Amino acid sequence: MSIKTRPATSLRRNISFLGRWLRNPKAVGAVVPSGKSLAAAMVAEVDREAEGAIIELGGGTGNITAALLHASFPIDDITVIEREPAFHRVMAQRFPEVRLLQGDAVDLRRLLREAGIGKVKAVVSSLPLLSIPDRICLQIVAEAMAVLDENGVFIQFTYGPASPVSRSILARLGLHGRRASWVMDNIPPASVWRYRPHHAAGIGEPETEVAEALHQRSA
Ligand SMILES: C[S@@+](CC[C@H](N)C(=O)[O-])C[C@H]1O[C@@H](n2cnc3c(N)ncnc32)[C@H](O)[C@@H]1O
Repeated sequence: MSIKTRPATSLRRNISFLGRWLRNPKAVGAVVPSGKSLAAAMVAEVDREAEGAIIELGGGTGNITAALLHASFPIDDITVIEREPAFHRVMAQRFPEVRLLQGDAVDLRRLLREAGIGKVKAVVSSLPLLSIPDRICLQIVAEAMAVLDENGVFIQFTYGPASPVSRSILARLGLHGRRASWVMDNIPPASVWRYRPHHAAGIGEPETEVAEALHQRSA
């Protein structure tokens, strides 16, 4: 199947990204979009055989989306969440056939419910978790865990040396994280992390913890 994407030079994408970053560096979180190797390393963590939706958090100018399509994941399985209207517009132009939802990742359950999306096998996030306050980070990761299928995985890259989801959040939500790969040829070098509930490995009671975190969010 041929997928329509509109041409957008990497220069134009980088300028658009840089403009947004200069205005709000904390919210966007990186000076340049992910490189091809990093995007491919993220996508390599998505299970090809499993059924279910792939949710991308923080579409930006679309490099992870492009990697998902390049890796031949079905276009109907992909949904991209982007909060910033300017990036949402760039994405809509670049990927007119991909389902794009403009909204905040903290509202993930509601966004997916309203879009009629059920079973989710992977949440692929390039959100700037290290710049996000812990409380919001907890909410976002809890939302992701709440929408994931029992064998689902939360995938996140980081430029930092350690897990981009803090130990306290991992403990709070009963999650296990591991570094899946290093991408040394990205600028800056990055690593890709995978997170799953401990109960997938037969430990703990994460559903209780996730429910509690979600409850605290609305309290
Ligand atoms: C580091 S950029 C990544 C862009 C692109 N996926 C890439 O890897 O090149 C992070 C993106 O997340 C978006 N973003 C940040 N916080 C968000 C939130 N809470 N919900 C949805 N999108 C968010 C930003 O607007 C930005 O487009």
